[in-house]
Amino acid sequence: MANLQKNLRILSPDQIELAKVLVEIGQTHLFEHWTQPGIDDEEKKGFFDQVSRLNTSYPGGLTSYVHNAKRLLSDSKAGKNPFDGFTPSVPSGEILNFGDDNFVKLEEAGVREARHAAFVLVAGGLGERLGYNGIKVALPFESTTGTCFLQHYIESILALQEASCRSTQGQCETQIPFVIMTSDDTHARILELLETNAYFGMKPEQVKLLKQEKVACLDDNDARLAIDPKNKYRIQTKPHGHGDVHSLLYSSGLLRAWHDAGLKWVLFFQDTNGLLFKAIPASLGVSSTKQYHVNSLAVPRKAKEAIGGITKLTHADGRTMVINVEYNQLDPLLRATGSPDGDVNCETGYSPFPGNINQLILGLDTYIQELTRTHGAIPEFVNPKYKDASKTSFKSSTRLECMMQDYPKSLPPSARVGFTVMDTWLAYAPVKNNPEDAAKVPKGNPYHSATSGEMAIYRANSLILKKAGVQIADPVVEVFNGQEVEVWPRVTWKPKWGLTFGELRKKVGGDSSITQSSTMVINGRNVFVENLKLDGTLVVNSVDQAEVKVEGSVQNKGWILEKVDHNDTSIPEEVRIRGFRISKVEQLEKNYTEAGKFSIKS
Ligand code: UTP
Repeated sequence: MANLQKNLRILSPDQIELAKVLVEIGQTHLFEHWTQPGIDDEEKKGFFDQVSRLNTSYPGGLTSYVHNAKRLLSDSKAGKNPFDGFTPSVPSGEILNFGDDNFVKLEEAGVREARHAAFVLVAGGLGERLGYNGIKVALPFESTTGTCFLQHYIESILALQEASCRSTQGQCETQIPFVIMTSDDTHARILELLETNAYFGMKPEQVKLLKQEKVACLDDNDARLAIDPKNKYRIQTKPHGHGDVHSLLYSSGLLRAWHDAGLKWVLFFQDTNGLLFKAIPASLGVSSTKQYHVNSLAVPRKAKEAIGGITKLTHADGRTMVINVEYNQLDPLLRATGSPDGDVNCETGYSPFPGNINQLILGLDTYIQELTRTHGAIPEFVNPKYKDASKTSFKSSTRLECMMQDYPKSLPPSARVGFTVMDTWLAYAPVKNNPEDAAKVPKGNPYHSATSGEMAIYRANSLILKKAGVQIADPVVEVFNGQEVEVWPRVTWKPKWGLTFGELRKKVGGDSSITQSSTMVINGRNVFVENLKLDGTLVVNSVDQAEVKVEGSVQNKGWILEKVDHNDTSIPEEVRIRGFRISKVEQLEKNYTEAGKFSIKS
């Protein structure tokens, strides 16, 4: 305190006000090591710049932050269960069967609605588990074309936009808004990726970047803010979690603007799920036909599987909510509330609580109403790693965190909160784990690595074509980077070719077959596959105005998957982390750059 007083004369009135706030909330230790005025003065001013940022970026400022931290730390120390008093039950939702009539109808409904939607990608995470040196959205989501996740997402949104406009059969100038939440760790590189690639075909004004700020770290149960170990005039900070997306959208004014422009839906998704857009049209169809205020995309989940379950919670006092409950909380909660067996599989062979994949579709009307009430603040939690059972000190500093899927916690009981379950092979294959950790995943559990993420794309595309009537050879099992994966034919296409199953099946016909060692890349809108016998590699590039019929027998040496060692640093990191590269030995590549009708017949 004395050190602060000595320095008051070098501070501006605003800085003095902030210092008073810090003193009031028990943070005088931050000044203990301050030097005499005249020494390190610029650093001291820099300290207040940071305090000012921390104060304005948190709803209610640092006073609220410290207040909330004390409460949550005390609850954590007392071992308080956040779900005390709640009884879990299975909420209502939709379980879809890929490719049946209902699925196709829902896809059509979803495509019609898409022009009333905005998309939000949360991409502020550090990606520590993957350990990739670049940003995750710049990673190729498959290697036949090397298309990165961000390009794939943008092309999927643009394909939805076009299809949705077409469905109106009238004038339509819709530009689906696309927001990317970034952080200091990802912002500059995401912006650069967009700018150096002309926004991958999107209008620059269609894309908005919102940067989340980090929050202050906490050193002890009294919520004393942690001093940055690298600079004694800074507070240590860490990410606050993807729940920040709600307060950022609220404060940006975008929600109001979208509402005024007639939008109805906001779709949230994460950085590395290359399958997601296969599930989006039908899920949006569910939201619109069921008029869900919240629709969580989900996958079948085995009882006790390490993925959160979507659960209805009913409190003794009558409160209810439909929310993600982490798997390690769900089983004990069930046992404590009259289900002695806990989380068990039902007659379907899966837990009745579907697995949350954290992709949300929110109805804009209720979303705005709710955020106007809460200002976008999402219930937080704290997860300190205690040194010992006394729970008095931490192994390292902690901080408050929040998750975007906790948004429904504060909704009134009248809110329609549901879910849409789709097959995992169709909807979910994130890239989160590095090769070493993925190789240690117990057998039968998903690797969630770059290897499995890419193989999942080939499997899904193969299974979709199979459903559409193409004979697809069975996969073989191979090991890359210590992970056993199914290798299906490497089939990829641009979103505008096969945005929905309903559209795609009109583009394949006759008696077509693809062998396991084959690769097929469709980079064009109007490509029709009929009576094709593919045993090798076929690449078709065509402009939208070209109509290309692919038929006959294509046979060549094709493209071969070559194993690479993930420790070999002479190989680019994005290749090494998947454990293979594609050796392009021989292919039939056809390019159509002009309008007209063409046929590939060999
Ligand atoms: P993950 O759980 O994959 O976390 O985030 P992460 O930070 O990216 O990776 P790890 O845990 O360090 O390995 C799920 C999604 O939420 C975003 C991520 O970018 C990813 O799309 N996210 C996460 C944010 O936008 N902000 C955050 O503070 C945390």
